[in-house]
Amino acid sequence: MYRTKIGGIGKYIPETVVSNNDLKEYMDTSDEWIQERTGIKERRYAKKHEETTTTMGAEAAKVAIERAGIDKEDIDFIIFATLSPDYYFPGCGVLVQRELGMTKTEVGALDIRNQCSGFVYGLSIADQFIKTGMYKNILFVCSEMHSMGLDFRTEGRGVTVIFGDGAAAVVLQRAEKDDQGILTTHLHSDGTHAEELAMINPGSHGGHHLGKEKFGFPDENKFGGLFVTQKMVDDHMLAPNMTGQLVFKNAVTKFPEVIKEALDATGLKGDDIDMFIPHQANLRISQFVQKRLGLPDDKVYNNIQKYGNTTAASIPIAMCEAWEEGKIKDGDLVCVAAFGSGFTWGSALMRW
Ligand code: COA
Repeated sequence: MYRTKIGGIGKYIPETVVSNNDLKEYMDTSDEWIQERTGIKERRYAKKHEETTTTMGAEAAKVAIERAGIDKEDIDFIIFATLSPDYYFPGCGVLVQRELGMTKTEVGALDIRNQCSGFVYGLSIADQFIKTGMYKNILFVCSEMHSMGLDFRTEGRGVTVIFGDGAAAVVLQRAEKDDQGILTTHLHSDGTHAEELAMINPGSHGGHHLGKEKFGFPDENKFGGLFVTQKMVDDHMLAPNMTGQLVFKNAVTKFPEVIKEALDATGLKGDDIDMFIPHQANLRISQFVQKRLGLPDDKVYNNIQKYGNTTAASIPIAMCEAWEEGKIKDGDLVCVAAFGSGFTWGSALMRW
């Protein structure tokens, strides 16, 4: 068995800065409310009609490939994580392959849909392929363009103010040293509350789980016409919804549990962690988890203040930034953990 290391990491942050005060133009909100509840000061939005989830992912991928010291033709597998893809199908994996001009090698491209846990899930998948020797250089891209799918009316403020756009990518490779690389990964899910943090429409559910009338489905036995209904458009149902307090309550329980699981599996302790990078869901959640782990501020990296929640991209963007700032060094024990829609959650420990 081989060990998997992060051989290169890159990020792409769109230029347009949107402050909390900027959002007041569209909805009844305030800088105080947003900062107090979430820690967010501003977020970035991609350029409509110019940038997409794929193009941002490709920019991050170029940096990761260069930093890994390989050529794009050396990549033997692609993984792409997003909840805001360019198309309903095909997924962004093949689109980023085309965008990077990697079609000659015809390598496989896998799309994963694990929302906020996307990075931890993708890391674990890549780890299994590298460990067994099947692949040597996996490009794993995480990218989100939330700004194109949010409800900017006051009715949508509880969700909209939290999310931002951005991308990051890693190249996962065989580690040269025995004491380097991913030590363990842990993945979980519980679909009980699937609709409590979800974008339900468009979709094939036809009102099945949710009540036909509420979601505007005609009660007729006809083919077609259920994927997107006029009522969904008229009633602004094509946007994510979230029961914030339920998500918060579950997140603060599951984060510490799954981190403990990773520490127990490796015989390590909270004290051994040099850098903890939580999914950037809410600064209050990160602070709660930090306290439970007993970690000092310099061993936790948060940047939600600047970027909001960038879902699948949040951990690798933070990891890239921490590494660029010299806060992650060779040999450091890095812990990542995420919780989000599904619910799905997970953790990983790696020696940098
Ligand atoms: N600006 C101003 N007021 C807002 C607002 C906004 N952006 N969003 C909601 N409100 C209002 C609500 O309408 C409500 O008003 P009311 O009391 O008059 O009905 C009030 O603020 C409280 O809303 P509530 O949803 O109970 O607030 P909260 O304390 O739970 O905070 C979250 C909301 C979303 C910040 C919080 O629940 C949270 O962070 N949850 C976790 C979300 C998360 O992590 N999601 C991503 C997971 S990956």
